[in-house]
Amino acid sequence: MGTIEVVLGDITTEAVDAIVTAANESLMGGGGVDGAIHRAAGPRLAAAGAELAPCEQGQAVATPAFDLAPVRYVIHTVGPVWEGGGHGEDQVLTDCYLHSLRLAVELGVGSIAFPAIATGVYGFPVPRAAEIAVRAVRSLPIIDRIRLVAFDRETYDALTRCAGS
Ligand code: APR
Repeated sequence: MGTIEVVLGDITTEAVDAIVTAANESLMGGGGVDGAIHRAAGPRLAAAGAELAPCEQGQAVATPAFDLAPVRYVIHTVGPVWEGGGHGEDQVLTDCYLHSLRLAVELGVGSIAFPAIATGVYGFPVPRAAEIAVRAVRSLPIIDRIRLVAFDRETYDALTRCAGS
């Protein structure tokens, strides 16, 4: 059974085997955490993403991490746009975590860092997203070290509350 750690910080500084980005279906980068990861990994990340695009909501694909080395992989997953909760958003967000974990195992990843997928531009409520994230990673204890990286205090507190419960 692996460990689940909640941390407050910039995911591009994580020393793990794989970093997950909250992408859009083009996989060409964007703002938020996706923009930060693309800036840190360099232009080859968008080129590699373009070869795998489009990526459907809830799905996950992997590319090398390029300039983010010693990180080995970037796992791109597309979260749900929040539309009030009645359009299957919870399941799509759950699928983002589960598909990323399953892909990470296939790649032989031992440690992985997730951002708070869908809680920024896509507007998913933080407390609900935190509960889904912790439940999802607990349901699939297949990676030794899982780090849930919050970029702000509200997200950190929500994740910590869920992980501690
Ligand atoms: N490290 C960790 N977390 C970060 C960082 C960072 N450097 N930068 C932003 N975040 C956090 C945000 O504060 C938020 O909590 O990542 C979380 C997800 O927010 P977004 O990046 O906006 O992702 P999302 O809501 O899934 O929207 C995805 O935005 O950037 C575009 O291309 C992306 O179209 C896609 C959409």
